[in-house]
Amino acid sequence: MPSSAPSPILLDRIMMVMEAAFDPAYGEAWNRRQVADALAMPNTHALVVDAQGRPMPDTPGTAPAGFVLTRHVLDEEELLLIAVMPGARRRGVGAALIEHLFAAARDRGIARIFLEMRRGNPAIALYQKFGFEPIGDRRNYYRMANGERVDAITFARSI
Ligand SMILES: CC(C)(COP(=O)(O)OP(=O)(O)OC[C@H]1O[C@@H](n2cnc3c(N)ncnc32)[C@H](O)[C@@H]1OP(=O)(O)O)[C@@H](O)C(=O)NCCC(=O)NCCS
Repeated sequence: MPSSAPSPILLDRIMMVMEAAFDPAYGEAWNRRQVADALAMPNTHALVVDAQGRPMPDTPGTAPAGFVLTRHVLDEEELLLIAVMPGARRRGVGAALIEHLFAAARDRGIARIFLEMRRGNPAIALYQKFGFEPIGDRRNYYRMANGERVDAITFARSI
């Protein structure tokens, strides 16, 4: 059961990026309720950064540029979603999110981070740059808006 309601400022910022960043064709974006329920769980973590890649405090201020959402179980953490505003891409914001995530995860005692990605997502270049390695795939795991199926690839990296 959810244990506490997340900050509305944090939720607003995540949803602002979510709604702009994900192509509806792939059905990857979460809705507000899904994010709120996830964040109410004590082992789920969200980080929002500004256009300079700096973590944003939960106070009103400038617009967000990107976020990362993760969940840990014991010493493993799963990267659930990472997204950057289309107008802020290829300027290191995604890389800053991964770097902040690694630091926070190490502080939580995490040994390994894993993630699942739809085959063909250009995000693979970001993950490979940070040393994530493919460890398996699930055939036809994702269903796109047009009904087509796409494989999921699982990546992992020790930190
Ligand atoms: C994936 C995503 C988060 C990357 O964010 P970003 O801020 O553009 O990433 P960065 O600028 O930090 O990129 C760092 C490096 O990753 C690689 N990279 C990132 N995006 C890339 C792309 N579209 N094509 C090729 N390489 C890419 C490059 O090596 C890049 O370094 P460079 O720009 O110096 O070449 C962003 O494209 C996005 O929000 N995509 C839509 C949401 C999504 O699919 N998320 C992943 C699944 S949850």
